[in-house]
Amino acid sequence: MNPTDLQAAELAQDHVNGERLLEAISSLASFGGRDDGGVSRQTLTEVDLASRRYLIDQARSMGCEVGIDECANLFFRRPGLDNDLPPVLTGSHADTQPVGGTLDGAYGVIAGLEVIAALNDAGIQTLRPIEVVAWTNEEGSRFGPGTMGSSAFVEPARLAEYRGSRDGDGISFGEALDSALAAVSDVPRLAMARPMASYVELHIEQGPILEAENVPLGVVDGIQSVRWYRVECQGTMAHAGTTPMDRRNDAMATAHRVAQRLYEFAAAEAATQVRLTLGRWLVEPNSVNTIPGRVEFTIDVRCVDEAVLDRFEAMLNETINTQVASPATVTATCFFRRASTKFPEHMQRLVEKACTRAATLAGRKLPITLTSGAFHDAMYLVDHCPTSMIFVPSIDGVSHNASEATAPDDLVLGAQALAYTVAALASS
Ligand code: GLV
Ligand code: MN
Ligand code: MN
Repeated sequence: MNPTDLQAAELAQDHVNGERLLEAISSLASFGGRDDGGVSRQTLTEVDLASRRYLIDQARSMGCEVGIDECANLFFRRPGLDNDLPPVLTGSHADTQPVGGTLDGAYGVIAGLEVIAALNDAGIQTLRPIEVVAWTNEEGSRFGPGTMGSSAFVEPARLAEYRGSRDGDGISFGEALDSALAAVSDVPRLAMARPMASYVELHIEQGPILEAENVPLGVVDGIQSVRWYRVECQGTMAHAGTTPMDRRNDAMATAHRVAQRLYEFAAAEAATQVRLTLGRWLVEPNSVNTIPGRVEFTIDVRCVDEAVLDRFEAMLNETINTQVASPATVTATCFFRRASTKFPEHMQRLVEKACTRAATLAGRKLPITLTSGAFHDAMYLVDHCPTSMIFVPSIDGVSHNASEATAPDDLVLGAQALAYTVAALASS
């Protein structure tokens, strides 16, 4: 970094306003806010659309230009001195799980806007434009797979398939997307896959590592591999009271047998830190006194070691092909897979510098490097431009839960580290 880049980075970091940041997090959390303190704002629902309008108004009041692309990813742009240069991009997602917290995703978007406010307050003009993005459907809970917005931005051909994905009520992602775009017809349309100079995403860790180390900031070196499957078990509906046990084709009994094998695999592979979740179950007809005729469940399996996921997939196929007795039928379809992500070394070093300065000035422990257990939009941006991530601790390591929280001081330090990183990148 030359002296002017360094000065811009330090000034930006020092102008982050903690109170404004925390207030803005609370304001966004009111869209879909729950009585238990959590947030329910699944992608492209009414509350999500309302929160998007709120973010647009906020960004415009800060002097940003607002744009949207074909996947409804929202971009808030602070012009630079040379607006022909590709921008530095930061942000995250504003959608949540069915029961989520106030920070997963929202923190990165709000902190991005705080960086712009800090630059405005410091009177800094950066060479490159800076854009804050709110990616569409990172969570994947309403429409699978996750990270739709960022992956379609990077490779727009993916969007055609995504449009056909349906939620539990049969609404397609394409229909929801068209309504979302119609609701912001005042916002200019931007091209997908536009060149970006770099991408930095600030996020809560959502796991226990930083808290255990008592460290406020983490440099993320990459993201573990993830695969999602849909398992469909077909049986025959029949009367629960009259059908003898040996004359049943019970889809739940079959699903249970398959699930048991999956959990046995996870237990046997515990040393690899594999993570297995069977998170969504659909039972038909879901009646107390009818034998289930059809059961569908999802598998989320993750590991830093891709070979473990290959073994898992082989075991899943083997179970279906050899362990399921006729007349039951089972199919497993993979609908999301992403190999592990590695962030470039030079981006990690810049983030480390930013985190080190913020932590040192606050009298806190120096940053450590860790690998993300959760996936993030940065997982796809890394295919598009130099990318990095910053983590702050999660209290009790909890996320995808209404009680998800981070100490306010840590949230402010994260935004400071982000401001330094973004200002440095935008100055050169
Ligand atoms: C993101 O929400 C994930 O499931 O990792
Ligand atoms: Mn997230
Ligand atoms: Mn999440």
